[in-house]
Amino acid sequence: PMFIETCTAPTNIAVIKYWGKDEARGLNTPINSSASVTLDQDDLCAMTSIAASSDFVADRLWLNGKEEDTAGNGTHAKRLRKCLAEMRGLARDRVDASGAVVCTATELASYKVHVVSRNTFPTAAGLASSAAGYACLVHTLAKLYNVEEAYEGQLSTIARQGSGSACRSLYGGFVKWVKGRKPDATDSMAVCVADQAHWPELRAVILVINAGKKETPSTEGMQTSVETSPLLAFRAESVVEPRLAAMEAAYRARDFEAFGKLTMQDSNQFHATCLDTYPPIFYLNDVSRQAIRLCHAFNEHKGRILAAYTFDAGPNAVIYCEAKDRDELLAFMLHFFPPPRSGVESYTNKPALLKA
Ligand code: DP6
Repeated sequence: PMFIETCTAPTNIAVIKYWGKDEARGLNTPINSSASVTLDQDDLCAMTSIAASSDFVADRLWLNGKEEDTAGNGTHAKRLRKCLAEMRGLARDRVDASGAVVCTATELASYKVHVVSRNTFPTAAGLASSAAGYACLVHTLAKLYNVEEAYEGQLSTIARQGSGSACRSLYGGFVKWVKGRKPDATDSMAVCVADQAHWPELRAVILVINAGKKETPSTEGMQTSVETSPLLAFRAESVVEPRLAAMEAAYRARDFEAFGKLTMQDSNQFHATCLDTYPPIFYLNDVSRQAIRLCHAFNEHKGRILAAYTFDAGPNAVIYCEAKDRDELLAFMLHFFPPPRSGVESYTNKPALLKA
């Protein structure tokens, strides 16, 4: 027999950044908690189909049309094996509409799988494609294996092991990744603070400054930062927790000025830790810095904070704003943006929830 499931999952853009793994604890746990907003899936999402069959002889993976060597030592191979092993351990009998068992859990978990996954946006360009990808993998496996969480957030602990930021893509709205304290990391999970209905006017405008592959992959970059940046250690120890609390309060109150200021400050500090890394990591380029200046100029022109930029491990800007200000902001940005403008695109997204 063969069973197939297909799902899509959204990406998320952090407003309090995750940067740095807790190597002593392991299991892809972070040195600080983080928070993000989940985008809707109209423009940006991952789509994954997984088939499980008694006829398959090996687990296989195709990413954006290209087959990966799942037996090898590549990052995706190792992460896929990890997520698969965890999910197989949670498999339950597959039943039909009448409740009759179609395939036992043991049988299901013994079948090899073929995984086909695509992103609808540039991979590895710092647009959080791994977040959507691994959230989608775990969500689709959960359907395939008829998995129910033993506790709220359990699936996010598995997505976390695929990619840290992926744990936050399992929920819509404003999502916190709590670093937790248990040695087995079963509490290092995503928590939905306010769902997508809480702030429906929120938008994310994405300026694609460079859709190419990023210079330093985040996994590698954060490792060097942990090893060499005293600023990162200070940030994790003293800055993130109070900032996260203020951010949560701002989001709950739909206070854009507070939300926006904290978002920009956190992005700036994250990139400062990159510069403090030895040798330094540069994710922002001249065009990114121009976008930052323009965003501040827009806010100054309007007399208050109506737009807030944030950058992940790449040069592309994500600018949060409210729906009422989006068109004016876009017109302003595109008017002043340095030529050539051909590389500048925009997607606008409302926060939303994972679709299945
Ligand atoms: C800058 O989640 O890609 O986007 O856990 O090694 O897969 P791994 O790292 P990843 O790092 C994301 C870093 C970031 C900030 C964030 O999304 O919080």
